[in-house]
Amino acid sequence: MRPDNSARMTLEQEIQKRRTFAIIAHPDAGKTTLTEKLLLFGGAIQTAGAVKSNKIDVSTRSDWMDIEKQRGISVATSVMGFNYNDLKINILDTPGHQDFAEDTYRTLTAVDSVIMVIDCVKGVEGQTEKLMEVCRMRNTPVLCFINKLDREGRDAFELLDEIEEKLDIKVRPMSWPIGMGKSLRGVYNMYENNLNLYEPSKTKKVTDVVEINGIDDPKLDESLPESAVETLREEVELVEGVYDPLNVEEYQAGKVAPVFFGSAVNNFGVRELLDCFINIAPSPIPRETELRTIVPNEEKFSGFIFKIHANMDPKHRNRIAFARVCSGKFQRGSNYYHVRQNKQFRFSNATAFMAQQKETIDEAFPGDIVGLYDTGNLKIGDTLTQGEKGNYKGIPSFSPEQFKEVINLDAMKSKQLEKGLHQLMDEGVAQLFTYEFGQRKVVGTVGALQFEVIQYRLKNEYGATVQFQPLNIYKACWISAEDDTKMTEFIDSKQRYIAKDKDDKLVFMAESKAWLQMVQDNFPDIQYHFTSEF
Ligand code: G4P
Repeated sequence: MRPDNSARMTLEQEIQKRRTFAIIAHPDAGKTTLTEKLLLFGGAIQTAGAVKSNKIDVSTRSDWMDIEKQRGISVATSVMGFNYNDLKINILDTPGHQDFAEDTYRTLTAVDSVIMVIDCVKGVEGQTEKLMEVCRMRNTPVLCFINKLDREGRDAFELLDEIEEKLDIKVRPMSWPIGMGKSLRGVYNMYENNLNLYEPSKTKKVTDVVEINGIDDPKLDESLPESAVETLREEVELVEGVYDPLNVEEYQAGKVAPVFFGSAVNNFGVRELLDCFINIAPSPIPRETELRTIVPNEEKFSGFIFKIHANMDPKHRNRIAFARVCSGKFQRGSNYYHVRQNKQFRFSNATAFMAQQKETIDEAFPGDIVGLYDTGNLKIGDTLTQGEKGNYKGIPSFSPEQFKEVINLDAMKSKQLEKGLHQLMDEGVAQLFTYEFGQRKVVGTVGALQFEVIQYRLKNEYGATVQFQPLNIYKACWISAEDDTKMTEFIDSKQRYIAKDKDDKLVFMAESKAWLQMVQDNFPDIQYHFTSEF
């Protein structure tokens, strides 16, 4: 049979049009504000204030329905698609609350690049460092936006040094601030060779831009006070001397981060960021399965589930699974092969996400996210194909930070508890470990909030009543060994501390850092891993 060239062509064009990314930041750096401004540029929303923060506000909640409502917002903002300059941009939202960090890590598996927002007053913060570690695991390209220039922030060179040092990535400034805080005059855009003069405005879409021809252009002297031009010339000379010119390949390999300066709330420096981003950010990239590398323009559809969201109505336990299309064309109503269950499924109800609207779609292309209605068959990490076996790699679980034992308070509801726990774990709310010894069940989470969410949802959706008993566990370490006899020896010796995760992988529950170190010294033939994929 002759290959269908015209269909191929459209698939390739659709792929080249797409940019799928996430905006990540330490809470309060300006992620929501920047998202909103990007949507304004794309015309996807008309007014500022339309994007709701997905921050889960624990301090002011009166009851759990509030949290549920806030979770509702996070469904609405899970994916925001818009068109800009003939491109289809997909922004994947990540939870604002640190307790949901694991959800963010998984979302990062579904993007091709990220924009990292850094507050110019606070610099690199704790969560920024953790997020960067996750980006580094896959060499995800990172573009930085240093935000809040309208505040008296830290020196620009100092901020760049801090990014290089704390985030362990080379930087290349693409724009340069002219003053900061009260003395902010504008930014000099080295990428486009123009000057963007600052005028505070929360509603303006376009800023005053003066085209200039290099740093010696007299137009600079006409537009700015003498002292500001002098400092700018000195600093730009220094920048050109210290930092290599941007190498797009290096950026795409995650080795260098281009940096823009601006003020998201004043819509200042945002267009420059977006215009550079769409030029240099990768379109959908190839991805690895257990068997091979799959490139996006392969004719056959494939994709994976990276997020599952439960229905908020407890009477209807259906859920939305978010699938990232990796290759080929997704078509609604088609049968797709579910690799883990070795079964065909038909997805007649699929949605796409444009701005904050969900709409039924008939087809989707690599880089797109489709929402699939599911009644409990799909799990995070599941792969869908047109028949090929081999799961997509790269959705690891990380060792949780907090561990509590599940105590069943209603023996009559053991079955419901079992089912509820498994379904909540499939959604990725937390991780479940079952001790080999005594079959005790332990839930591990990143933050304290999830225990309350689980307790509430088990009661509300499954009718099971539980209590959580704190345990003294430092880390869950996935263990492996080349020599099976060494592993057997280890398990025999540490029986009380051995558990299995949801996929029956062996896990060593270490009680303290010092003790783990000692065990590592005593059993050097065992490999200890802090993520489930190694
Ligand atoms: P997040 O999603 O990263 O957590 O941050 P978000 O956008 O919600 O921004 C956090 C706070 O920082 C907000 O103020 C927001 O207005 C402010 N902000 C964002 N960009 C800038 C900027 O360029 N300059 C200044 N000065 N502030 C900025 P808030 O008081 O928490 O909320 P709001 O009442 O202003 O909405």
